[in-house]
Amino acid sequence: MPAYAVIGGQWGDEGKGKVIDYLAGESDCVVRYAGGNNAGHTVVNERGEFQLHLVPSGICWPGVTGIIGNGVVVNPDVLLGEMAGLQERGIDTSRLYVSDRAHVIMPYHILLDELQEKARGSGAIGTTGQGIGPAYIDKVSRDGIRVGDLLDGEHLPDRLIAAVEMKNRVITGVYGGEPIDVHEVLSRCREWGEQLRPQVRPTEQMVQDLLEQGKRVLLEGAQGTLLDVDHGSYPYVTSSSPSIGGAITGLGIDPQSIQGVVGVFKAYSTRVGGGPMPTEMLDHAGEELREKAHEYGTTTGRARRVGWFDAVAARYSRQINGFTGIVLTRLDILDGMENVKICVGYRADGKEVNRFPANTSLLERCEPVYEKMPGWSEPTARATRTEQLPENALAYVRRIEELVGCEAQIISTGPSRDETIAIEPVIH
Ligand code: GDP
Ligand code: IMO
Ligand code: MG
Repeated sequence: MPAYAVIGGQWGDEGKGKVIDYLAGESDCVVRYAGGNNAGHTVVNERGEFQLHLVPSGICWPGVTGIIGNGVVVNPDVLLGEMAGLQERGIDTSRLYVSDRAHVIMPYHILLDELQEKARGSGAIGTTGQGIGPAYIDKVSRDGIRVGDLLDGEHLPDRLIAAVEMKNRVITGVYGGEPIDVHEVLSRCREWGEQLRPQVRPTEQMVQDLLEQGKRVLLEGAQGTLLDVDHGSYPYVTSSSPSIGGAITGLGIDPQSIQGVVGVFKAYSTRVGGGPMPTEMLDHAGEELREKAHEYGTTTGRARRVGWFDAVAARYSRQINGFTGIVLTRLDILDGMENVKICVGYRADGKEVNRFPANTSLLERCEPVYEKMPGWSEPTARATRTEQLPENALAYVRRIEELVGCEAQIISTGPSRDETIAIEPVIH
């Protein structure tokens, strides 16, 4: 029963899409288990460049089944639009399925996301504005509408009318916003139901069956461990569990089927939105790195904050997920730097802080303790074998492995599928 999870080890955008596309060639099925279209996963291969928000990143491989599991929140317009865009580019989406238990992101969730962010003022989280938080709130408060409900013409109107009435009271009364027209939402829901009907399945059964047949299933993480609602830098997090626990509840699979948990890390750090980031480079060097790396969000186009590799946070992330291996991406971005730095500890209030703290204000006060290593002038870009790496680049990778406590199975040296060094097989 071989399932393999690929999970972001930092604050998202580690290159999960690239890694999934690379590994999907050896897989039968790729499944998303958490988050929604706040994710933006980039895939670059011989078919071109793709930005995927909901569709699993294995879609370019003919014969690979794609599944959007129960733990995902689904904006049907985004899903249908993404499928149409892929079909136009000759990608087959007939093997893509969505769970009947997945919750739907409604227009009122998107409106509430915007209103809540405005109300937070200077404490804004910097959400992607896609209605993710409000959709998960409704799931947990048991007021959500699920994908399966869209197909249930008989019960949908009552549930929806009750939900919209309640939301309108909040939208107008609390935030002074414009109420949502329930009839308009109902007719959109009916259209969505008809358009999505061929794709809707009890996906937990599908995944369980595939695993029992010995098929190889990749679990595609979205966001990153440090954005996890429980384990991340709360409240500057997303509203789901991108880490390994979310994979189990978000799909309904036997935890024992998971034979490998791979943590994807950038060779440095980035973060979009608000919240503490101990290794953030606020100087000219940070700007230079952002421009060189073109660190702008796939979903929102916002500039990503950049910083050095944070080994304290990475080790914590390894422990939370039980990583069996890591993938280091974007090593090529550090090519040509005179020196590179790794954060090996924090100091706050005159004391050492050697673990990633729960307390946000403490994390904000944490100053990084750096270990400086010599950079490399020869390129790592496009390397496909470890022997092609400059000595100093390899030393940097080895030090990260040591500090994180886990070996690199893959090193990524460019955005394209073939710009990859396979060290140890991930899928057996
Ligand atoms: P994800 O959300 O984790 O899938 O990551 P994103 O796609 O949002 O951001 C990662 C960016 O880095 C994308 O533009 C990728 O094409 C790109 N990328 C991935 N791996 C590499 C790499 O090894 N080197 C370079 N230069 N770019 C990479
Ligand atoms: P991928 O899958 C980077 C961040 C947002 C914000 C916080 C909450 O591409 O790695 P939300 O809209 O989820 O309520 O926003 O989480 N965020 C991401 N940052 N990559 C992502 O996804 C993200 N998804 C959410 O910027 O700080
Ligand atoms: Mg992304």
